[in-house]
Amino acid sequence: MEKLAIVVLISGRGSNLQAIIDAADPLVDIRAVISNRPHAQGLHIATQAGIPCEIIDHTQFANRDTFDTALQNCIDHYQAQLVVLAGFMRILTPDFIQHYAGRLINIHPSLLPAFKGLHTHRQALQAGVTEHGATVHFVTPELDSGAPILQGRVPVYPDDTEEQLAQRVLDIEHQIYPQVIHWFAEQRLYLQAQTAYLDNKPIN
Ligand code: GRF
Repeated sequence: MEKLAIVVLISGRGSNLQAIIDAADPLVDIRAVISNRPHAQGLHIATQAGIPCEIIDHTQFANRDTFDTALQNCIDHYQAQLVVLAGFMRILTPDFIQHYAGRLINIHPSLLPAFKGLHTHRQALQAGVTEHGATVHFVTPELDSGAPILQGRVPVYPDDTEEQLAQRVLDIEHQIYPQVIHWFAEQRLYLQAQTAYLDNKPIN
């Protein structure tokens, strides 16, 4: 089977990027890592792994459209078949999302549709839930609302701090993201009419 060309977009730490690299999936070729922040720690991880890095600093662009166009040109230069958002902290324009329809995925640190947006672990603790986790989903224009593909669940303990809970969720993120990329590489996963399908069965 041919290798799947992916490009990973980051803004910071890059622990999910590290997990994708560590998975060493024989079906996956990480063509490039792109960061919108020049000092993202994840850039060191990519360099260490010998993966080409690109910096497209959003502060150097007049507006969202021109930034997204530059981003799109860069991704397409690497002929990415799948675009992987891994802690990429920018809202993307509908045109950009449309261009990558069905081949743009994100990981969000909650069991969507619960706790969209930021500070999800704090939100979970404040809500008093006993279960929390992470969701990999196809990206659609509405924030954190795309078709879910895979969720990883962790318990929430009564005395948990935000940091403890975040770490527990992160560990599960590092398992589910490489798994989803592998399914995509095996051509078992696709998006149709806003629903994700695995082995031709809708995921809900
Ligand atoms: C993760 O919690 C991910 O779910 C969220 O941003 C964080 C990125 O962490 N989208 P890292 O940069 O992969 O370490």
